[in-house]
Amino acid sequence: KMNLFKEKEKLNDFFSNQNQNATRIGLVPTMGALHEGHISLIHRAVSENDMVVVSIFVNPTQFNNKEDLDKYPRTLQEDIDKIKAFNEHVIIYAPATEDVYATAVQAANFDFDGLEFQMEGKHRPGHFDGVGTIVKKLFEIVKPTNAYFGEKDFQQLQIIKKMVAKEQMPVNIVGCPILREANGLAMSSRNERLQPETRKNASFIFETLLLAKDMFGTKNVRDVEHWVTEAFEKNENFELEYIEICDEETLKPVTENLNTKNYRAFIAVYADEVRLIDNIALN
Ligand code: PAJ
Repeated sequence: KMNLFKEKEKLNDFFSNQNQNATRIGLVPTMGALHEGHISLIHRAVSENDMVVVSIFVNPTQFNNKEDLDKYPRTLQEDIDKIKAFNEHVIIYAPATEDVYATAVQAANFDFDGLEFQMEGKHRPGHFDGVGTIVKKLFEIVKPTNAYFGEKDFQQLQIIKKMVAKEQMPVNIVGCPILREANGLAMSSRNERLQPETRKNASFIFETLLLAKDMFGTKNVRDVEHWVTEAFEKNENFELEYIEICDEETLKPVTENLNTKNYRAFIAVYADEVRLIDNIALN
């Protein structure tokens, strides 16, 4: 029997009837439309916890435009079927908006020490306040021991770690590697919206990141970014929004190749009017 909970009270009742002392709870927050990337997070959570909660909730406060929110895929029945492949220790929390946003559907204001003003923050104002708001609520409802986030959204992962550290939340944040399609395109619910031809050609994004990684260390970082910009200018299928080589901790652009820190290249690209993001560790 599938354990699907639509209300936090029911979820809490369920947990009250479990042996609490010995129970490590893993939380995998998602917006549904589950793909292999999400499934890899669930596998990781299963291997490190006694119970796993997969939350499925398309969070309105993190969308900076209504159309994007309306167009977001909602495939609850398929998602449930995918979770059924796991055992009874994996349960779903799929609330209605009222269950998580009791009074107003509104984001709180967070201070993520400036992480929120880099990259995605510049292009999606308010987005990370919305993410912080919902993730904090989910932590309060589920009370997880461990919570799992993909490096696909690396800035999100760092922001959640920052929130947990600043607010001293009792949860361990686990970052998980990016799962890719066979051609290298990072898996995403948005890939479904690409034309088949574009989806095939989108291997170009990861290939370019791999070449940038090769150049890193031998070339100046600004030259590497410039080279990526030019590569995209020559490719009419994709429109580059940004390429930034940043310090993993501060998410600020690197000025020199000091090998004392960890660096990553971050990219946002439009293809068929679909916005795609990806990133790669450089050292
Ligand atoms: P969503 O986009 O559904 O992603 C849920 C989780 O899956 C995130 O931690 C994301 O980084 C991870 N993920 C997505 N694609 C991945 C891939 N190809 N490889 C590895 N992990 C991948 O991110 C969100 O939802 C929301 O912002 C959320 C955290 C649920 C808050 O609403």
